Amino acid sequence: MEIRPEAADEADVVADVLLAAFGAEERVVVDLVAALRASSAYRRELALVALDAGAVVGHVMVSRGWVDSPDRLVEVGVLSPLSVRPDRQGEGIGTALLARALAEAQQTSWPLVVLEGAPRYYGARGFERADRFGLLRPSPRIPAPAF
Ligand SMILES: CC(C)(COP(=O)(O)OP(=O)(O)OC[C@H]1O[C@@H](n2cnc3c(N)ncnc32)[C@H](O)[C@@H]1OP(=O)(O)O)[C@@H](O)C(=O)NCCC(=O)NCCS
Repeated sequence: MEIRPEAADEADVVADVLLAAFGAEERVVVDLVAALRASSAYRRELALVALDAGAVVGHVMVSRGWVDSPDRLVEVGVLSPLSVRPDRQGEGIGTALLARALAEAQQTSWPLVVLEGAPRYYGARGFERADRFGLLRPSPRIPAPAF
């Protein structure tokens, strides 16, 4: 399996993976990724695809966000979304994408990466609850354990 930054002409194959993973009714995720790509938050080296035999089987994106600290805005990474084609889930592809995305994020000036996700999945892969670090949820709709 190869993990590398997504290519400019891979938006459609990435959208197929997103829709397969999140469900065809979740076009909002495809729209989110498109909006991020078109924004100043986009970092191509942090938008990664996993390929097997040349086919895209997974995708992860870390974009630039901000934490509003008492004296300034701090740039941070925001990891979203992470997806693996359903017929390839449970093989470690998501874990590998996550590890590579975090290794790439280490090369930035960002002090941390935040996400909203399943505490069991991300907790087993090095993430901790953000409120332990004094970070407030960006929305009350995000359950505290998921941030
Ligand atoms: C979540 C996801 C990216 C994991 O990718 P993956 O390649 O299947 O994950 P891995 O093979 O590296 O790890 C498998 C583990 O993830 C667990 N897992 C898979 N989906 C999970 C979920 N939604 N919640 C909690 N755990 C999950 C499996 O039970 C397995 O657990 P184990 O390590 O204790 O056996 C993939 O299942 C997916 O695309 N899901 C749909 C989209 C989604 O929910 N994305 C995450 C939100 S940003």
